[in-house]
Amino acid sequence: MAGNPYHVIERGAAGTIGWRIHYFDEVDSTQKIAAEMAAAGAAQGTVVIAEAQTAGRGRLGRSWHSPPGLNLYQTIILRPQMPIAEVPRLSLVAGVAAAEALETVAPGLVALKWPNDVWLNGRKTGGIIAEAIANHAEQLDCVLLGIGINVNLGISDFPEELRTKATSVRIAIGRRCDRIELAATLYQRLEARFQEAEAGRFASLMQVYERYLALVGKRVTVVEGASRVAGVIEGVDGEGALLLETDHGVERILTGDVTIEGAYD
Ligand code: BTN
Repeated sequence: MAGNPYHVIERGAAGTIGWRIHYFDEVDSTQKIAAEMAAAGAAQGTVVIAEAQTAGRGRLGRSWHSPPGLNLYQTIILRPQMPIAEVPRLSLVAGVAAAEALETVAPGLVALKWPNDVWLNGRKTGGIIAEAIANHAEQLDCVLLGIGINVNLGISDFPEELRTKATSVRIAIGRRCDRIELAATLYQRLEARFQEAEAGRFASLMQVYERYLALVGKRVTVVEGASRVAGVIEGVDGEGALLLETDHGVERILTGDVTIEGAYD
């Protein structure tokens, strides 16, 4: 392992997000390393960050393209007191924090595709995954919050199949972005927004989320396993559910993948 360039942004007391940052040149997945550290007792706020991942994991069993030296691949260990069923809320809160961090480098270009894709200029730049780890009593032990952000990838660094769907900060703003500064801003925003969520202000956080919500007024299909619901996106409610105007009225969608008819999949 080389020296840790993220050491300079470690901040706060134990438990603050980013108080300890473990840095690796290459891992299979930061989710896996963080799971091992969490099992060994790592405190809340511990971050695992890598230059490259050989088996980066996305949502729904997808992979996450993780070439070396260009992007941010990190997992943050959280130990919130909440029922396991509420863990998906954390990825919405993280979406707000990631949007706010990206807003500082790409003002006016940021949006959130529900539930937790981060977009610049209408293309995916970041993804968030929140994996709940239960203890023997089937209660929440910790959450492994994985956040991947395409920072300095050029278009030719993307595999062919991602070129029309994905982007990076560099492509969006036309210049390179300092990954360490961006990580520092991200951890500060995460800390602030998680404190708000823990203080019970989730509904007001969802109002902030809604300001970034992509595709409002657009017709989409939400796919969840074998179920498909088509409708026009209206917004999100105070619990983070997507509000979809369907032929049968407004439906609250709690989980699923939004696909845009005839365009983005
Ligand atoms: C998604 O949009 O599907 C979520 C992508 C999450 C990717 C990040 S990169 C850091 C962490 N380690 C992983 O293997 N996955 C997450």
